[in-house]
Amino acid sequence: YGTQKINENGHLTIGGVDAVELANSYGTPLFVYDLELIRDRARGFIETFKKLDVKAEVAYASKAFSCVAIYQLAQEENLSLDVVSGGELYTAIKSGFPAERIHFHGNNKSYAELELAFDTKIGCIVVDNYYEIDLLKQISEIKQQSMRILLRVTPGVEAHTHDFITTGQADSKFGFDLNNGQADEAFQQVKDHQFLQLLGLHCHIGSQIFETDGFSLAAEKLMQKIGAWNKEYGFECTVLNLGGGFGIRYTEEDKPLEPQVYVEEMIKTVQAFCAKLNLNLPEIWIEPGRSLVGDAGTSLYTVGSQKTVPNVREYIAVDGGMSDNIRPALYDAKYEAVIANKANEQKESTYTVAGKLCESGDKLIVDARLQTAEPGDTLAIFCTGAYGYSMASNYNRVPRPAVVFVENGQHQLAIQRESYENIVQNDLPFTLNRG
Ligand code: LLP
Repeated sequence: YGTQKINENGHLTIGGVDAVELANSYGTPLFVYDLELIRDRARGFIETFKKLDVKAEVAYASKAFSCVAIYQLAQEENLSLDVVSGGELYTAIKSGFPAERIHFHGNNKSYAELELAFDTKIGCIVVDNYYEIDLLKQISEIKQQSMRILLRVTPGVEAHTHDFITTGQADSKFGFDLNNGQADEAFQQVKDHQFLQLLGLHCHIGSQIFETDGFSLAAEKLMQKIGAWNKEYGFECTVLNLGGGFGIRYTEEDKPLEPQVYVEEMIKTVQAFCAKLNLNLPEIWIEPGRSLVGDAGTSLYTVGSQKTVPNVREYIAVDGGMSDNIRPALYDAKYEAVIANKANEQKESTYTVAGKLCESGDKLIVDARLQTAEPGDTLAIFCTGAYGYSMASNYNRVPRPAVVFVENGQHQLAIQRESYENIVQNDLPFTLNRG
């Protein structure tokens, strides 16, 4: 993965830094992000649009991994930002991210969150539902302030990894249905509003997708609607946002395309449609999360106890687990790993890697092929950069890990390890009925 190599000590290195040394100096569990890989991916997307001379914004879907430092890197790489909560928006503003490149998502944004979006003057709100339209009208009128918006629609195209399904109606909590009049009604409600400036449409058809067909079909369905509104109302669509979802390789079973290929296919579809209907080509926005940061992240753990279930399996337990990576327990997600201090040895053993949380389902990898493990070894699990730290919890009052950035042999802390003090900082003593 990326810049990972094995050094003269037989240790795994990431971004030119010895993973075992990182584990020793920062402690474990530890998330390590290889910045070079994130930059490569970001540039890959941006340059594909440039090469084809298509105006675009590549917004990092920061739910995949959000903190001040990653937002600063995203800014440096000319990405825009997709935030989905007041918390992500607040973090982005704190990081100094240019507000005009922030896009705000969510199916139940609160009045306070929307006010924050107006006050910080973000670039665009992706409107999800009628209630939100009402709130936006209220707030923009009170503040006498304009806001650029996209309408999020569900086109009835849903992609699941390799295949996609199309249905007349999408059973989704997100967005206005494109096929049953909801999107048209939303369009009517916003199109002549004094302060709401409708740029175009948004859709997101799923995550960890490997094929391009779903994106092309979704693009076509959105363009059809845009064509119809253009004909009937003279609506000029300036932005088409096709969401994220580009798949990455977690294990050898995953065979994603080069990220740029998805973009090229989308552009082809939209260009063909615009030519046919004699429409101006809108800007194309995308929102990759996983494909920007997923394989740039590696989790380091220390191996502790072991258990043999005779004739069934060997367990090794590590010092983290579902509290820093819920994906195996939640989605049955698969990962590959290596013992970082024995990276040049053969993988001769099969272990189920268990976490330390009090739950039988807390397994990070079932039947992993690994070097023979001993207590104190450093286990590296690959491709944990997306939806790992960002979905971490304090279950069992386990503190969240630290996050380290590496690049060109250098490293820095990006998020401090939580302390026990952090864990109790919001707890209050029991006082009720105590006189
Ligand atoms: N845009 C929208 C509107 C989204 O809902 C998402 C992801 C993205 C962009 C980014 O998708 P990506 O490029 O990362 O696939 N926790 C799950 C994934 C949830 C994805 C939610 N939405 C996981 O760990 O697999």
